[in-house]
Amino acid sequence: MKLTDPLMHVRGASQFIDDIVTPSGCLHAALFTSPIARGSIRSLNTQAASSASGVVAVFTHRDIPGLNQVGHVIKDQPLLAVDSVEYIGQPIALVVATTRRAALKAAKLVTAEIEPLEAVFSPREAARRGMIHGQKRALTDGDTAAAFARCKHIAQGKLATGPQEHFYFETQRALALPSEHDTIKVCASTQSPGTFHHHIAEVLGIPQNKVEFEIRRLGGAFGGKESTAVWVIAPALAAFLLKRPVKLVLERNEDIVTTGKRHAYEYDYKIGLDADGKILAYEIDLYQHAGACADISLAVLGRSFLHVSGSYRIPNIRATAVSCRTNIPPNNAFRGFGVPQGNFAIEAAISHVAEKMGVSPSVIKRKNLLQNGDTLPYGMKLEKTNAIRCWEELDRQIVIEKRQAAVDEYNRKHADTKRGMAVIPVCFGISFAQTALNQASALVNIYVDGSVSVNTGAVEMGQGVNAKIQTVAARTLGISTDKIRVDTTNTSRIPNASPTSASTGADLNGMATKNACETLYARLCEFAAKHLGLPTADISIKENAVYNKDKRTDLDWDKLSAAAQWARIDLSEHAFYATPDLHLDLKTERGRPFAYYSYGTSLTEVSLDCRRGTYKVESIDIVHDVGQTLNEVIDRGQVEGAVIQGMGWSTTEQIRYAPDGKVLTLVNSYKIPDIKFCPAHFKTTLLENSDNPFAVCNSKAVGEPPFIHGLGVYFALWQALRSVRKDKDVPSLPLTPEKVFMYLHE
Ligand code: MTE
Ligand code: MOS
Repeated sequence: MKLTDPLMHVRGASQFIDDIVTPSGCLHAALFTSPIARGSIRSLNTQAASSASGVVAVFTHRDIPGLNQVGHVIKDQPLLAVDSVEYIGQPIALVVATTRRAALKAAKLVTAEIEPLEAVFSPREAARRGMIHGQKRALTDGDTAAAFARCKHIAQGKLATGPQEHFYFETQRALALPSEHDTIKVCASTQSPGTFHHHIAEVLGIPQNKVEFEIRRLGGAFGGKESTAVWVIAPALAAFLLKRPVKLVLERNEDIVTTGKRHAYEYDYKIGLDADGKILAYEIDLYQHAGACADISLAVLGRSFLHVSGSYRIPNIRATAVSCRTNIPPNNAFRGFGVPQGNFAIEAAISHVAEKMGVSPSVIKRKNLLQNGDTLPYGMKLEKTNAIRCWEELDRQIVIEKRQAAVDEYNRKHADTKRGMAVIPVCFGISFAQTALNQASALVNIYVDGSVSVNTGAVEMGQGVNAKIQTVAARTLGISTDKIRVDTTNTSRIPNASPTSASTGADLNGMATKNACETLYARLCEFAAKHLGLPTADISIKENAVYNKDKRTDLDWDKLSAAAQWARIDLSEHAFYATPDLHLDLKTERGRPFAYYSYGTSLTEVSLDCRRGTYKVESIDIVHDVGQTLNEVIDRGQVEGAVIQGMGWSTTEQIRYAPDGKVLTLVNSYKIPDIKFCPAHFKTTLLENSDNPFAVCNSKAVGEPPFIHGLGVYFALWQALRSVRKDKDVPSLPLTPEKVFMYLHE
């Protein structure tokens, strides 16, 4: 199948928000936001901004006709601040002008007298003061205290992982177009048309049927466009009040400073193993640096929490997790949705204890790897795990022990340069942990010329979900993909859609599409039989034609469509899909929160220049389980993209805050991996013969799980660093070259 999107991207033919031709008279909005991390608003002066050239209006919370309250999970966030601010970048006023430049300029003329209040930037400190979102989560399985008493090897410590900037190419933006009778159409770069459709109607105080939300594609999102976003709602507010089109585009640095990031976490861990190297007990406390509002933090925390045991069998476990309310912009989802943070601690604990035992971490990992029949801490029994299959395939390719021996040998012989390696297994639960979100619908229309349009709630953001949906429709209808167009995501065609996230986009929307296409297929076969005077059982549709048993008839797909319409057969079908059998009891922390798991194993090797503190990723070998791939090119691209993003999080992507909470690392100092950072040897093997009855066409979700392999760089560096000195703790993630240098030389 030829992929159209990549071709269009490189030719500049793909439409993003900025490519939509704006109607004449379109206005531009900019936000005036809080310059301080916490304070009481004493007064707000919009006079100078209002009278600036080109300015049409300046709006504050007073102008909101409906509810000045947003929030993805908990409604705890005003759209525009009322009398207090809780983070730098919190929107206070909305300036609308004839040009973007005028709007940005005038936003700088707004002034506010804000009495500063004490701000908290440490998640542990916030937790101590009881400043948390939602409830603390706690899960116990077995008896850790009794188990630790039986352990031969115990390691414990404190660690942290850092935040990560999404760095999507297309910054946050939206265009709002008012129409007759107080209706409004919004085109926005968001993963959650369903949620924002609802939010906008509430803020404007109008019913949802007066709001139409439309999305062609996003220029990347990575979770950062999923939740509470003032910049999506604000232009709709201005357009609604002024009855003129309004566009709002965040500048790159504005986006970096004011929008949420991947959550930083802090950890207290303790792990215990028996003499044999079997993990007996694990205790882990997670502190999530959530920011000023709950946003989507509790959902992310929930996933970290459910993934604290990684890919390992741990008979006795005690885990707690809190979402800490700090005075930074509310953090949000980022590829992996908390799983990388949850996995990090167990990987660190194993590296730590293995070091104390004097064995390679991979030996411990292999010994404790999940196998069929094992039960995860929340009570879900594994039936068809591919954890060991992925590991063994990688081991067959590489011979892990031999590679480790070579690394150790290298390190014995070299003083100025070192090597390190890490094996990272992945076991990633697929489904929204919030059961209600696991639903999708599709509307499939066949036209009289035989062309087909498929509508779902899925949002295309570069992950190839549209191409996958197109494949599902083509396979199910028995026609070629060039007859099928996946239409824009539009709330008037597909209402109440769940966000495209948690890697469920293709799974859920693909299933709904399949259901709709199956119904249409059956209906058309029945019609074709009647039309041709043959028994229905002998009829099939394949390769764009009707078949009588194995013989192609004269009735091709296009003729069939026209004939069916003429015979008054319905050529449209709406279908629904809800993932069956999902539940999680938050009181007992037991249930079946995921439909299935995605597995993988990787080996990363790094080299370290001990004088300079610089390092290089020499190689990554991955075996990853994508079930039966819907599109191999896309799946390989998703694996590679996710791994590189994970490598960035592990190593060079560091966000620095000033003491007052301001983000210092702007576009010119925030380092995402570039082509030179990618390993020269980068091999991905898709696991063969993997079946998955729980997702569409036996496929498996692939958008996020491979991100975890990126942790390999951190742990490979850990090993290289420890071969130099062991008299102090390995620095927390990200392991920047600066931190490496200081570790080696301080
Ligand atoms: N790939 C690209 N190119 N751009 C993106 O924004 N987002 C990731 C992943 N891959 C993303 C991406 C995230 S965070 C998720 S949850 C999944 O894609 C969502 O898509 P899917 O559910 O359709 O796999
Ligand atoms: Mo992805 S972080 O679930 O949008």
